[in-house]
Amino acid sequence: MEKIVSTESPEETQTLGEELGRTLKAGDVVALIGDLGSGKTCLTQGIARGIGIAPGEVVSSPSYILINEYDGEIPIYHIDLYRLETFAEIAELGLGEYMNSDGICIIEWAERMAEGLPDTCIKIHIAWEDENTRSIKIQHSLS
Ligand SMILES: Nc1ncnc2c1ncn2[C@@H]1O[C@H](COP(=O)(O)OP(=O)(O)O)[C@@H](O)[C@H]1O
Ligand SMILES: [Mg+2]
Repeated sequence: MEKIVSTESPEETQTLGEELGRTLKAGDVVALIGDLGSGKTCLTQGIARGIGIAPGEVVSSPSYILINEYDGEIPIYHIDLYRLETFAEIAELGLGEYMNSDGICIIEWAERMAEGLPDTCIKIHIAWEDENTRSIKIQHSLS
């Protein structure tokens, strides 16, 4: 299943994330792909809100922490692979453990782990169209 949505503000992107977040269940993996400033963290804030995490808990600026954990009814593992260059560095993080847990993983720069992503992950590509417009493509694999 695939849908493409255009948003015109950060708030609209967060609302889209919130709607998606309400549909997620334990064990889901969300792979976010898009350039710096495209809106991956913004969307993550909405997703977290949809899962029931207070918006203020979610990091809002580029983080120097690779994995942030938000504890709600379902824990969220917010992972940012921006600073990792090699597949070996990423492998060392042992993300499999998080992806196979009963939490929900949201991964920024997910393309950096390529074939390490589960087949069942929800892939989201975000593209910058203009200052306030983003094109967001959401792909759910059939499972
Ligand atoms: N429609 C939109 N959706 C998401 N972010 C937007 C939008 N329009 C403008 N922005 C701005 O783009 C930036 C996105 O930043 P961020 O979410 O941190 O990007 P990333 O995590 O992909 O590097 C924010 O400054 C946000 O205010
Ligand atoms: Mg980010």
